[in-house]
Amino acid sequence: MTTGNETISSAPFGNTILMVGATSSLAQSMCHVLAREGHSLILSGRDEEELNLLACDLVVRHNVPCLILAADFLSPDFTTESFIRNAGAFDHLIIATGTMGNGDPLSLSDIAFTSHINYTLPAQIATLAAMRFAEKKQGSIVIISSIAGDRGRQSNYAYGSAKAALTAFASGLRNYFCKHGVHVMTVKPGFTDTPMTWGMQSPLMAGRDYVAEKIIAAMVRKKDVIYVPFFWRYIMLIIRHIPEGIFKRLKL
Ligand SMILES: NC(=O)c1ccc[n+]([C@@H]2O[C@H](COP(=O)([O-])OP(=O)(O)OC[C@H]3O[C@@H](n4cnc5c(N)ncnc54)[C@H](OP(=O)(O)O)[C@@H]3O)[C@@H](O)[C@H]2O)c1
Repeated sequence: MTTGNETISSAPFGNTILMVGATSSLAQSMCHVLAREGHSLILSGRDEEELNLLACDLVVRHNVPCLILAADFLSPDFTTESFIRNAGAFDHLIIATGTMGNGDPLSLSDIAFTSHINYTLPAQIATLAAMRFAEKKQGSIVIISSIAGDRGRQSNYAYGSAKAALTAFASGLRNYFCKHGVHVMTVKPGFTDTPMTWGMQSPLMAGRDYVAEKIIAAMVRKKDVIYVPFFWRYIMLIIRHIPEGIFKRLKL
């Protein structure tokens, strides 16, 4: 999985990982990589049946302890504090929750919804976990953002702006907590073959297992910000530098 003799098992963080948005296709691939390395998992999502199926699969294939934590972020009873309390003890947090919304950037309710799921809740969950990790002076947090947050585009700017906020938040969280022994990694995947990109045709589409392996390998190496695959760093560098006068006329 990683270069040389380095594996996640030898990483300087504990063994239990809380995976938020565990039913996401990308998260499921990451769970298999982590379980293969012997990590215990707490799987969180809103679909209890799906979580149970995933947990059974992980236990049977990799023989690791798996707990499930069913929680619907949109439920009126949901609070971030009780969510983190109910998760129990964990050494590491990965947040993979995300939604493209209904794709209509002119829908006011969709702007609020995409902000809530892609930004507000991940930011709150990461904050409480970071505070907890800071008390032990160890722990790490992986936040799955997106290349869509690097520049607003007409095709998905409600989603993209929520991811831009999440990217900025992760940068600040990393800056604030690094002196407390907490590591924060920002992940910016490009197009990845999951239900989120269903029907999208692109020669740049990456497989979810490939992306998952890259994320876990970078987590072991305590990277700060990664693009997956790597070439998106350069594509987005170019896209960010296109003058606004030209960019606003492009159909991206
Ligand atoms: N696929 C890509 O091309 C791509 C590119 C860049 C970044 N990303 C990011 O990578 C992460 C994983 O994406 P994916 O492609 O694997 O997506 P996915 O399969 O569509 O999974 C999305 C996850 O978010 C959860 N979710 C969505 N709406 C929710 C809601 N209202 N309340 C609670 N949970 C909700 C889903 O839970 P349910 O299973 O219950 O619906 C699921 O666990 C996301 O953060 C996404 O933004 C993906």
